Amino acid sequence: MDIEGKYFKDFLARGEKQKNHRSEKTAEKQHSKGKLTAWERIELLFDEGTFEEIDKFVTSASVDFGKADKILGDGVITGHGKISGRLAFVFSQDFTIMGGSLGSVHAAKIAKIQDMALKTGAPLIGLIDSGGARIQEGVQSLAGYSGIFFRNVKSSGVIPQISVIMGPAAGGAVYSPALTDFVFMTDKTSYMFVTGPNVVKEVLNEDVSFEELGGASIHGKKSGVSHFVYDDEENTIKGVRRLLSYIPSNNMEHPPFIDTFDVEGRFEEKLRDVVPDDPNKPYDVKDVIRLIVDNGRYMEVSEGFAQNIFIGFARLAGKTIGIIANQPKVLAGTLDINASMKAARFIRFCDAYNIPLLVLEDVPGFLPGINQEHGGLIKHGAKLLYAFCEAVVPRVTVILRKSYGGAYCVMNSKNIGGDFNFAWPTAEIAVMGPEGAVAILYKKELDEAEDKAKLKKDLAQKYRNEIANPYVAEDKGYIDEVIDPAVTRTKLISAFQALENKHVYVPDRRHGNIPL
Ligand code: HXC
Repeated sequence: MDIEGKYFKDFLARGEKQKNHRSEKTAEKQHSKGKLTAWERIELLFDEGTFEEIDKFVTSASVDFGKADKILGDGVITGHGKISGRLAFVFSQDFTIMGGSLGSVHAAKIAKIQDMALKTGAPLIGLIDSGGARIQEGVQSLAGYSGIFFRNVKSSGVIPQISVIMGPAAGGAVYSPALTDFVFMTDKTSYMFVTGPNVVKEVLNEDVSFEELGGASIHGKKSGVSHFVYDDEENTIKGVRRLLSYIPSNNMEHPPFIDTFDVEGRFEEKLRDVVPDDPNKPYDVKDVIRLIVDNGRYMEVSEGFAQNIFIGFARLAGKTIGIIANQPKVLAGTLDINASMKAARFIRFCDAYNIPLLVLEDVPGFLPGINQEHGGLIKHGAKLLYAFCEAVVPRVTVILRKSYGGAYCVMNSKNIGGDFNFAWPTAEIAVMGPEGAVAILYKKELDEAEDKAKLKKDLAQKYRNEIANPYVAEDKGYIDEVIDPAVTRTKLISAFQALENKHVYVPDRRHGNIPL
């Protein structure tokens, strides 16, 4: 082709026109709000020079009210590239064009990329900065959102879907993220709400700021909608890249192996001293995790929400595991509504994507109380139970200390399909804690005793020695082995290696009916 000729000139002119949409002036608009542009975010996300854009020249359908004049690309950049050498698809909304709002063409571009990600088995990442359904396009934008939601659900459990909120996500813009596997937010510059502060004021006459209604802090700590919160956009995107390093590209693959060079048979004497002598004293379960996993590194999910349970990814001998650990430091590690929901969803993600589960257990039981019972602890706790029962990936539990009552059953006991259950010598396994047990079993004796407190203490100790210890469970085969805490890492690596070819027959059914 003659590069001086008409055809090539037209081609170049179109390219120039498209570049104008990405001018310094539009960039400045975003930068002044502490935000990056849609294309700068893409550059940070992908390995250098690997991003390929598609649908650059589609034009907007929005011409109503003279607001949008055939805008190229219609306010969203879509395409694919490599992240640490692995294929991923992206859509990145451009707030500088009609507030990143979703019109029919914008929606069709996203739907196209969703379809491509699904059929090629690659993760889909949405960089969201949007005022929601494009008002000018009415029902067409609602139809567009509906199509995106439908595809989100079809892709669920087949390819990982990650939503990164990098500005407003209002109205329809929140429901796609809620259907995806992980939501990232950037502190102070991202917001998620179904109806914004103006509507809240109008309908309820309540004053609330963007931040208070749906800022990253609220969704990271209170609602649990967001799984990861970072201080700025650069770190948020680094977080996405890091998360992808732990997970496979689709449900047919295993997570990527990364040689961590950590010693498999590392003997950790410090683990013998983590659990305090006093059974009522708290400790930080993250100290245990650090001493067990490769190089002490893990990626915590939902760090600020329901802190009485830890969930996150780490590696053992270079292979990804998903960890669920009770956190004795917060609410004594009890299971409440939020902790149950948080862990259940994580277990289902890991199960869908071939990520083995490690459970570190120290839980006195479900959290008692009117709020919990009236809030539906029964059905939310059942979610956790359901998620464990359903999981077919390798599942290993280590009971560090308390394992009482329903919590014993729920936290991946062998009886609900846990493959290996280990216990430290400090484990207390029984129907209930010693104090509660003796109060019921010895009610009469305690009522008649002169020194009630002393008798109760002695009986509790007797109960601990004779019943609430790991050897009774080991004796009956409910615990496979009581282990020296110092060799926990070695035992786990060998257990997960033994389970590598685990296969579970699952009967045909449309789907189970998890208690929602
Ligand atoms: C069309 C929109 C828009 C929208 C913003 N803009 N939202 N255009 N449709 N939904 C345009 C504005 O007109 C403006 O255009 C530009 O984007 C920037 O908006 P500002 O308001 O100036 O920015 P800011 O002050 O940062 O506020 C951002 C915002 C606010 C919080 C997102 O714009 C807002 O509240 N928008 C409406 C949110 C909303 O209610 N969406 C519809 C939800 S209903 P100019 O030309 O001035 O630059 C919905 C239904 C789907 O989504 C439900 C599915 C389940």
